[in-house]
Amino acid sequence: MSTRATDIAESSRVEGYFCEVPHEPCAIVMFGASGDLARRKLLPALYDLAVHSCLAPRFRLLGFARTEMSDGAFRTNASEFLPKNGAGADDGKKQDFLNQLEYFGGKYDDPEAYRCLAERLETIDRENQLGGNRLYYLATPPDVYPHVIEQLGRANLAGPKNGSSWTRVIIEKPFGHDGASARELNAKVLRVFDESQVYRIDHYLGKETVQNLLVFRFGNGIFEPLWNRNYIDHVQITAAEALGVERRAAFYESAGALRDMIQSHVLQLTSLVGMEAPARFDATSVRNEKIKILQSIRPLQADTVWKSVVRGQYGPGNVKGAAVAGYREEPGVNPNSATETFVALKLLVDNWRWKDVPFYLRSGKRLARPATEIAIRFKRAPHMVFQGESVEPNSLVLNIQPDEGISLSFGAKSPGSQMRIQPVTMDFQYRQAFGAGSREAYATLINDCIRGDATLFDRADSVEAAWGLVDPILEAWQNASAPPFPNYSAGTDGPRAADDLTASEGRRWRPL
Ligand code: BG6
Repeated sequence: MSTRATDIAESSRVEGYFCEVPHEPCAIVMFGASGDLARRKLLPALYDLAVHSCLAPRFRLLGFARTEMSDGAFRTNASEFLPKNGAGADDGKKQDFLNQLEYFGGKYDDPEAYRCLAERLETIDRENQLGGNRLYYLATPPDVYPHVIEQLGRANLAGPKNGSSWTRVIIEKPFGHDGASARELNAKVLRVFDESQVYRIDHYLGKETVQNLLVFRFGNGIFEPLWNRNYIDHVQITAAEALGVERRAAFYESAGALRDMIQSHVLQLTSLVGMEAPARFDATSVRNEKIKILQSIRPLQADTVWKSVVRGQYGPGNVKGAAVAGYREEPGVNPNSATETFVALKLLVDNWRWKDVPFYLRSGKRLARPATEIAIRFKRAPHMVFQGESVEPNSLVLNIQPDEGISLSFGAKSPGSQMRIQPVTMDFQYRQAFGAGSREAYATLINDCIRGDATLFDRADSVEAAWGLVDPILEAWQNASAPPFPNYSAGTDGPRAADDLTASEGRRWRPL
């Protein structure tokens, strides 16, 4: 397949993406504009949309944060995060983009700030003829969300300005820190906004390779007939990072891997692997199918948590040849921290398609290498006619990142007079097939939101359903002391107990 993929690549190479129809003009208010997420991800994503002709020429971005800063200082700060080389590095384009940025300093819970914000938005709207369209992006620490939502409501900024305009709000993860707080936040948000205005973001859904999972399953005829308990032995979903906690100790100490990765990104991937074909590719149909999977996952009980979930925390070790500190030695981390930096768990989906097919999920920081992948392990051939040969069961691996692609392994006869069977793979690689055309997840999602397409965003009910699966684990952990941490060395595949989780059922994790 690799050679064939090269042929295809020649005929279908796309060097970039372009929007044939730019967005409607709009004002984006970015709350938390001086934060890490805004600078590292959101501004570059918007710039990416601008240079690819997706943003309307009359777009305006108003950064909102507590620090006082002039428009000029905000633009200078933002310019640091725009591409320094490559196609987007054109100085003229960067300057055009920066000229569309403005800044507003204010306290997130101060009604007066929102009164001034409303005036400022009126002016921006009038001077740039934006038609009253507004997008609020909540990129602040999560404890600030309720204040911003409430003040937007009070300042009359939540509803559409006129009959033909729209107002939308993007809310970053984490959406709550458990089921109860997520329900409370949903209630607060929905007192001010209508669900159709709310875009809960999980950036994994914007990754090209994650969207391709839907195309792979529902755009091709040959895989779906095998995608069930008759042919699949088990599913493994891995989201492994080689990075540590970086500069986010304050957040991570109260989150941990279960809340940070499993509740959101990993359960999203699980829903996409497990869902039935939607009636159409639209927000209602896709999200209706996704939630059914979350509702079909057998909830863990206090006594099954211990058998089905493993937590870990990294100690000092070696990553890519460099010595790295243990989690408890990272700046800002409690030296006796019981926060988990690794989770592995087994889930069962009680429905016709997946009955008795285990889904093994794992995610961790400071593992041997970064790898996000979905591995479908098929059942063995029912009878082996090649005496003395044992053939590895077929695996289909969807590499989400970093080596984006899909690989199918099967047994092949090795050359020679004897009947020897060896595992080989058929590979599809994004980079080879499509060149450099893929888009940053955040650019995709902001683009979708401005166009009013919520397909790749989370709905209130599914956020709550995902917390419903995680809550029993959090509760069980809260009522017991953590295992002796650290229990894995940085740069390894995680704690031994995670291997036991699969080994006790005669299976094993794919090595990282
Ligand atoms: C974020 C988590 O949502 O996703 C981080 O808060 C994690 O802890 C990140 O590092 C991983 O995202 P990506 O796109 O780098 O896989």
